[in-house]
Amino acid sequence: MGTTITQLLVTTILILGSGILEEVKCTTVEELKQLIQSATIKMDAYEFPTDARMYEAKDNQIIDIGTYDFVIIGGGVAGSVIASRLSEIKDWNILVLEAGMVVDSEFNEMLGYTAYLALSDLSWGFRSVPQTTACLGFVNQSCRAYRARGMGGTSLMNGAVYERGMPSTFDEWADLTNDPSWSYERVLPLFKKSEDFHLRNPNTPVEWDYHGKGGFLNIEQKIPEDFVTSLFIQGHRELGTDIIDYNGQSQLGASIFQMYTKNGRRQSIYDAFLKPVLHRHNLNIWTESYVTKIDIHKITKKAKGVIFTRHGKTFRVNSNKDVILTAGVIQTPQILMLSGIGPTEHLQEMGIHVIEDLEVGSRLKEDPICQAMYVTTNMTKPVETLEEKLQQFLNGEGSLTQAYSTSGVAFQKSQYEEEHYADIEFIAASLEKSAMNVKYAGWKNEIYDATWGENTNAIAINVHNVNPRSSGTIRLKSADPFDYPLIDFNLMSDPEGHDMAVLYEGINRVFDLLQTPSFQSINPEYRGSPLPGCEDYQFLSKEYWYCFLRQTCTAAFHVRGSCPMGADPSEGAIVDSRLRVFGVRKLRVADSSVMPTSMSGHPIGTIIMIAEKAADTIKSDYLP
Ligand SMILES: Cc1cc2nc3c(=O)[nH]c(=O)nc-3n(C[C@H](O)[C@H](O)[C@H](O)COP(=O)(O)OP(=O)(O)OC[C@H]3O[C@@H](n4cnc5c(N)ncnc54)[C@H](O)[C@@H]3O)c2cc1C
Ligand SMILES: *[C@@H]1O[C@H](CO)[C@@H](O)[C@H](O)[C@H]1NC(C)=O
Ligand SMILES: *[C@@H]1O[C@H](CO)[C@@H](O)[C@H](O)[C@H]1NC(C)=O
Repeated sequence: MGTTITQLLVTTILILGSGILEEVKCTTVEELKQLIQSATIKMDAYEFPTDARMYEAKDNQIIDIGTYDFVIIGGGVAGSVIASRLSEIKDWNILVLEAGMVVDSEFNEMLGYTAYLALSDLSWGFRSVPQTTACLGFVNQSCRAYRARGMGGTSLMNGAVYERGMPSTFDEWADLTNDPSWSYERVLPLFKKSEDFHLRNPNTPVEWDYHGKGGFLNIEQKIPEDFVTSLFIQGHRELGTDIIDYNGQSQLGASIFQMYTKNGRRQSIYDAFLKPVLHRHNLNIWTESYVTKIDIHKITKKAKGVIFTRHGKTFRVNSNKDVILTAGVIQTPQILMLSGIGPTEHLQEMGIHVIEDLEVGSRLKEDPICQAMYVTTNMTKPVETLEEKLQQFLNGEGSLTQAYSTSGVAFQKSQYEEEHYADIEFIAASLEKSAMNVKYAGWKNEIYDATWGENTNAIAINVHNVNPRSSGTIRLKSADPFDYPLIDFNLMSDPEGHDMAVLYEGINRVFDLLQTPSFQSINPEYRGSPLPGCEDYQFLSKEYWYCFLRQTCTAAFHVRGSCPMGADPSEGAIVDSRLRVFGVRKLRVADSSVMPTSMSGHPIGTIIMIAEKAADTIKSDYLP
């Protein structure tokens, strides 16, 4: 019965085989409707997994599969970029180990159905432990912590918004690490190297000096521009806000989303960076491979290899040069701790032999977002049938080419922000009440009902704190690699109450925006009714809003910083500026985990830059 390695390799190559051929998409509106229908049924039936036991091996035997120069753990956003860049060197053998599969589905390309993907097999289905300071209006006081599995990682199910954050963030990183190569001046060429910028919506402000052409990553805007987006931009203009390119010189102002789609379709980071180079013989990808541990020599502290399971068997692969950990912000720290790198006390409690004492998982950062500002209007949304929407999608246009219902975005600085960073982001949305929203976000029914009305011409202005002070943790539940780790976001918990104050200011600014002539032309009215749990406070008083925020703010899925980069491990840094784990040899971390501070925005652009920089650094370390 035993599957041989050759058979396994053949399976892997076959899986990848579908990706080598250029897919000819010839789907019709009818076929797309069927895809949507089956996804809806799956979503209804979806149950959140509570562990990774599906990957468990059925025996104790370990099969050795040989040696590679580089073993990359996790073929997600960062892993895909690094595998693409390292495999440029013909003499280097690269192995990528990814728990999920290669995803090649047209449903996945429809951003309008993004939320469904989080409730599918693509999703790890993570949730936080019960919270006390946020997410109180959600089932079990738990925030969703969605992450995707599959080649391309969480870019398979995210909103495809492309932002780089505030330029000065990177100067701060250079200071924090004592390494000027992280300064904005030095990382800007890396951002541009990845990029192939296309101006589709001529209203999008562009500072061309900051954009690249010819890179792997197609950047464009959704077309046509919708009414609420135009109103949002115009309203900000009336408030005196600059209309800017948020990926240019400054992020502060209002703008239109830049997205890494191609002709309106989702392009995962695997599609963008790896699909074009799959012919390289030195690039090896093992899908459905779940890493349980990095094997680190107890005395020399050198990473020697990686242990993983696949189809019920356990395997071992050795690395000649580096093991590169890109399993994402939740599983990267999990794998480090399982391998003996983490806070001594916690590892001892778990019964894990400590190889290196580092504060892994202790500075988790997540942004709180409040999506509950339900505002009715007298505008009439254009009514489109599903058939019409799908036809537009096939033409690369329309509402299904975007995860968010509108494209307007604004970054602002609250009165509490002492530096020049944006700390509030606003996004306008025109959501309709739906069972899908309830399941996706995990709302308690009574809170959702008190928040959302039935008006189909309503909008919501989302308030998002993109530079929070609070931090949380990732901890192991046990030493068992198939247990999910414990995720504690601890949003809005800083003792000074800074994060709450910023969000409250954000709420007030929403009302300022609604007062502008542009918004007044649609007669906006805030229609929330007093929330269960907040009845003791005078409706719409400051105390009421504070209660409201703790009930309705949840995680924005911009998690980072579980293994921050820095100069000094005694101050909590896990990796140095060359992304090497302190105290351990030949082991790097190079994904969202290493971000040492917030970059004030959606993180993927920065993660791709970090991965580009990791590849350059590795090349300069190993090439003559
Ligand atoms: C719903 C949602 C919407 C979002 N929208 C946006 C957006 O619009 N713009 C934006 O910038 N960001 C967005 N994000 C965030 C962004 O997608 C992530 O920050 C980013 O993908 C993180 O990249 P990463 O490389 O660190 O990890 P990931 O992309 O998550 O990759 C990690 C990979 O490692 C694999 N892996 C994990 N554990 C193991 C293991 N033990 N063995 C083998 N493989 C393993 C995973 O399966 C995964 O493929 C969104 C996130 C979500 C969930
Ligand atoms: C809520 O928590 C309880 C106790 O931990 C658990 O049994 C239950 O499954 C959880 N419910 C959901 C919807 O997660
Ligand atoms: C909506 O309300 C505004 C403000 O009262 C008014 O000026 C406008 O004419 C109304 N529009 C429609 C379509 O009723």
